[in-house]
Amino acid sequence: MEWVTIDHIGKHLGEEVELRGWLYNLRSSGKIHFLIIRDGTGFIQTVALKNELGEEVFALAGQLTQESSLVARGTVRAEKRAPGGYELTLTDLRLVSLSQDYPITLKEHGVDFLMDHRHLWLRTPRQQAIMRIRAGIIRAAQEYLDGQGFIRVDSPILTPSAAEGTTTLFETDYFEEKAFLTQSGQLYAEATAMAFGRVYTFGPTFRAEKSKTRRHLTEFWMLEPEAAFYDFEDNLRLQEELVSFVVANILGKYTPELAVLERDTGPLKKVVPPFPRLSYDEALELLRRQGREIPWGEDFGAPDETMIAEQFDRPVFVHRYPTKAKAFYMKPDPDRPEVVLSDDLLAPEGYGEIIGGSQRIDDLQLLETRLREHHLPEEAYRWYLDLRRYGSVPHSGFGIGLERTVAWICGLEHVRETIPFPRMLYRIYP
Ligand code: 4AD
Ligand code: MG
Repeated sequence: MEWVTIDHIGKHLGEEVELRGWLYNLRSSGKIHFLIIRDGTGFIQTVALKNELGEEVFALAGQLTQESSLVARGTVRAEKRAPGGYELTLTDLRLVSLSQDYPITLKEHGVDFLMDHRHLWLRTPRQQAIMRIRAGIIRAAQEYLDGQGFIRVDSPILTPSAAEGTTTLFETDYFEEKAFLTQSGQLYAEATAMAFGRVYTFGPTFRAEKSKTRRHLTEFWMLEPEAAFYDFEDNLRLQEELVSFVVANILGKYTPELAVLERDTGPLKKVVPPFPRLSYDEALELLRRQGREIPWGEDFGAPDETMIAEQFDRPVFVHRYPTKAKAFYMKPDPDRPEVVLSDDLLAPEGYGEIIGGSQRIDDLQLLETRLREHHLPEEAYRWYLDLRRYGSVPHSGFGIGLERTVAWICGLEHVRETIPFPRMLYRIYP
């Protein structure tokens, strides 16, 4: 008999098939048991009847506990009232392993409890929907970039140098040398962009940030495109095209998952280019009109970003931040060197910054000056300076944070649900 997965069950209407999975829930009423089975690809209701299964197997069905693993055989029927449209009438059932006292029941649990049981929490429909959408976002983003002539060339995770400031580095011992977990793959992406033209790096990045907020993780995944000969404008265009492509792709392919999450898709449908653009100065003025006074030169906080984003119906770019507030590698605006050719993309509905990007400094001397101003050891950046020595070109790139993007598209409260095993301030278990 053919082993099929629940996501493909519709192709086997009327046939007898085998499912391998776990018991999600059991309801019984004397002569009939309803077993909801999950197999990782979906959930399906199955029906156990005594005259179909015989005394013994029927009794087994009635004794199954939540999350017991099993092999079930049955006939596929169309059932309009069932969530997936199909139901299975069981013809046989075999227990693989009995689960005892499964801690996550179908009632509500507190967040701390669920976080402590993240390894089991991932089995629930909501977490399954989120992880599927996460995978879909990765796939769509790569599909878009590959289609634009970008090639994935990954950056290392163990590095000798900081990309995003020295205050948030995780340090580790590298055979008696100091090494750090990477904060961003950007610097290496700049090297590979000079080799391949258009590249992206995708991988985990680390920040020892003492921030306990709904959008900070200490380990998060970042997709970082970098392109030779892309100027600031080219970079913004790439960002809005990429984000719009990803959102449209998820809306098209993940309707059931978005429904499980009860995501209002209305706001997502408005995510089409061009995105509004606001200079830092204009953003400051907008905040001032709303009663928030921020001195020129200071970065925005989460409430400021929310306030800015609320004025628009789609993601908004805030560009040209004060040079002093930003990373060493950002190119100053030639018309106004006190600001850099940088941008943050703020997602609507209170989600805030999902992208940080910029045109990079391509001049060797200026870059050397900046490294000194930021008290960064030139020795560790020698290779990076080589990129300005041997055929330097204007180039730009950005980093899109995967977890914040997942949180926004899924409409989640907190990034802790957007990654299989979140790493946060004071949490490294499980
Ligand atoms: O703005 P950031 O720090 O930019 C960079 O790291 C650049 N080197 C990227 C580049 O130009 N290649 O981070 C980029 C994005 C943020 O917009 C946010 O989405 C995400 O990474 N991010 C975090 N996500 C979760 N938890 C954190 N602690 C994050 N810090 C940044
Ligand atoms: Mg940023």
